[in-house]
Amino acid sequence: MKKYKLAIIGFGNVGQGLTKIISEKNELLSNKFGIELSIVAVCDLYKGSIANANGLDPEVLLSDLKEYGDLKSTTAPVTGWNAIETINNSGADILIELAFTDLETGEPALSHVKQALNNGMHVSMTNKGPVALHFPELYKLALRKNVQIGIEGTVMSGTPSINLGKEMLIAAGITKIQGILNGTTNYILGEMSSGTDYDVALKQAKALGYAEADPTGDVEGYDAAAKVVILGNLLMDLSLTLDDIEREGISQITNDDISNAANVGKHWKLIGSVQKTDSGFVASVKPEMVSQEHPLASIKGVTNAITYSTELLGDITLIGPGAGRLETGYAVIEDILSIHKNAR
Ligand code: HSE
Repeated sequence: MKKYKLAIIGFGNVGQGLTKIISEKNELLSNKFGIELSIVAVCDLYKGSIANANGLDPEVLLSDLKEYGDLKSTTAPVTGWNAIETINNSGADILIELAFTDLETGEPALSHVKQALNNGMHVSMTNKGPVALHFPELYKLALRKNVQIGIEGTVMSGTPSINLGKEMLIAAGITKIQGILNGTTNYILGEMSSGTDYDVALKQAKALGYAEADPTGDVEGYDAAAKVVILGNLLMDLSLTLDDIEREGISQITNDDISNAANVGKHWKLIGSVQKTDSGFVASVKPEMVSQEHPLASIKGVTNAITYSTELLGDITLIGPGAGRLETGYAVIEDILSIHKNAR
């Protein structure tokens, strides 16, 4: 049995989803994969910070959070470490970086990830900032330190879009990637088509754990643009930055726009796309009206879809959840399984 000690930085929706999965699935993980996951530290700017080298009880973490709204009264041998102290002192093998996404600097997650890699720890992150802005540098550092970085949850939550692309499709020659890459906006557009106002739909998306800490990233298309950057760079050998993506969000779309589209049998969708061209690439995120027969028209709610166009296989489409607590928490489990498989 291989035991992995996890230090979780950021205990919002994804951290809690992951903790619930660990509390319920540790036996399955040990039976099927021979691994045991132990949370040795949780560090959150607002909810508090606790550590126990022998493992924190995931059920206690979740019940305390439910009862008190934070972990400040949870009993543990160590309390009060900041993120860097947690990374340096918790004895964790894997940093689970789930702090809020900042698409301008990547911080503070970027510093957390670098510190962990420099310490010889593996990293799993669902945080898009460091990946969209600095992945090549982080990847080189990980190689030098002989550790791994898992990023499955940065695109389509636990739906294995990165793994499918990186492990299976890259050799087929990916020429174009297109899809619905943001769950919050697809959910909002769907709710608006049933008559719900934009503001109400956005509030629901936040309550359901779909939206970013700052939902501007979702509704203005930055989150989907970051995913286009990640996919283009990782799977199409491009060197995109966020400035390369022509970007428009959904905040200007009104209930009238949606019903006018419905009257002619169409649906508004926020579509992200990157395509290789003779002169380089074209990449965008923008709302588009698609007809009833368009494959993306049927993608509802928080579901995402991605089509990889390849030279050898033609089009391959993957459909699945794009956000959510358990759904994104599961992406971390996928990263850990990859780390375990590759380390053997
Ligand atoms: N806020 C993101 C979304 C979360 O709605 O898609 C998953 O990346």
